[in-house]
Amino acid sequence: MICPLEGFLVTIRSLRYAMTLGFTAFALCATATAADTLPAVPGEVTFSRDIAPILQRSCQNCHQPDSVAPMSLLTYQQVRPWAKSIKTRTMIRDKAGVMPPYYLEKNIGIQHFKNDPSLSDLELAKIAKWADNGAPEGNPADLPAAKELGGNSHWTAGTPDLIIPSPWITVKAGAPDWWGELASAPTGLTEDRWVKSVEIREENDVQSGSDGGRKTVGSRYIFHHMIWTTHVPGQEASVDDFSEGSSGTWPVHEVGRNADIFPDSAGKLLRKGAEVVFTSSHLHSNGHDTKSRLLYGFTFFPKGYQPEFRYGRRALGNGVDIDILGGQGEQRLDAYQVLEQPTKITSYEPHMHAPGVRMCFEAIWGYNVQTLNCTGYDHNWVRAYEYEDDYAPLLPKGTILHIIGYFDQSGKNKNVPDPRNWSGSGNRSITNMFIDLGQGVNMTDEQFEKEMANRRAKLHLRPNDVVIGCPLCNGEPIKPRQRPMAAPASTGTGAGQE
Ligand code: HEC
Repeated sequence: MICPLEGFLVTIRSLRYAMTLGFTAFALCATATAADTLPAVPGEVTFSRDIAPILQRSCQNCHQPDSVAPMSLLTYQQVRPWAKSIKTRTMIRDKAGVMPPYYLEKNIGIQHFKNDPSLSDLELAKIAKWADNGAPEGNPADLPAAKELGGNSHWTAGTPDLIIPSPWITVKAGAPDWWGELASAPTGLTEDRWVKSVEIREENDVQSGSDGGRKTVGSRYIFHHMIWTTHVPGQEASVDDFSEGSSGTWPVHEVGRNADIFPDSAGKLLRKGAEVVFTSSHLHSNGHDTKSRLLYGFTFFPKGYQPEFRYGRRALGNGVDIDILGGQGEQRLDAYQVLEQPTKITSYEPHMHAPGVRMCFEAIWGYNVQTLNCTGYDHNWVRAYEYEDDYAPLLPKGTILHIIGYFDQSGKNKNVPDPRNWSGSGNRSITNMFIDLGQGVNMTDEQFEKEMANRRAKLHLRPNDVVIGCPLCNGEPIKPRQRPMAAPASTGTGAGQE
């Protein structure tokens, strides 16, 4: 079957009807099995012609030598033994275990994100058919040109303009976890620069293939996460800074995190003379004596760039109510934040711990409730979902952001070490968090009107169209037509016709 509501724009006459339809469609989609939603693929599907391009785009950045994944998926010989497993792992779609690790639910909410590596239904269908038909190689002449690979030293968001290393640190094979601050690193910048993207990689002396038993993302690395800021020694933070005491933050580095690419209208400022401050790191042993450091790769906007918007504070989470019962699935938490200014939501980043399996993100404005997105969750991976600029939610002042977290402590969730335990809020993986770490920019009323006008022009809206993520974008509603009332048949006097 086909799930409706896949598009960004739902064209329906009444909002109440739109919401009913949304829920119905969602229920149908959720119950349909994955296989029956796949389109038919005509003809033979071969590795060389059909599968290799998919692997190049969505898999090889990790599945290459000296990278995060356990095996390479470059040549036919390497891929062939994994054919069945590739089918299984790609068909999981938005749940923990899916490959590539990206959990966007495709049957609800906004579907336009930067760097979305997920597979289309047609690509899933090709993989399934190929695996079921004995995984034929086809004609090697059909292979696409090989992709440029860089192993673990590959920068996915482009070659950085500036690379800042953290100090080296060693964690012994059997050492306990360690939390703390590392010595700050000067950027050496001699002028202010606006940052377009930041990508953080761990560089360490773990030899490729040295730990054949490695099954998780984390076991190649010792940095679990790093909370960091930038700071010019001796200078107070201002609204444009991303340091303690200012309004915005830099994204937290966490193992398995994708690169952060900021919108063209909202770069982040790295000041002349700034230092990178490694405020709070969490290190853990990976089973080997490991010497390691983080590399911060910044790309810059051109000199002279000025951002149109400034970041606002996202305080969307709930720690106090976390009360996860042992042995139970389907537990739910809610958190809310009222937007005090018109806001463009630039990213959504569900953050939970081991029992987290799904999060939904809603915008409530008046009687209008819109599900912006739902995503599965796997505590092994950190995924930030960055909206494409033309699809980023544009929300009026007074909108209530709402996140709904779904937790599974039943034992079916492989990430939970001991499902018998109750757990509350806390920093460790076996305790919980429930936050949206996404970011957004504040707007003045004028900027907000202008952004909506741009959006309307791009979408060619008709009256009463509903735009998910922009509750005020829809054009002027149609007014009921003023029709003369028909004359009562019995009198024929024309009474009531004025
Ligand atoms: C962001 C990095 C990343 C990307 C992208 C990625 N993988 Fe993986 N993959 C991993 C890691 C790490 C593991 C091992 C941990 C696990 O099994 O989840 C893995 C495991 C697997 C496994 C299971 C291996 C086993 O031991 O059973 C398969 C199959 C697989 N990936 C296929 C794919 C395919 C196909 C794609 C693209 C459609 C893909 N992966 C994209 C990192 C990645």
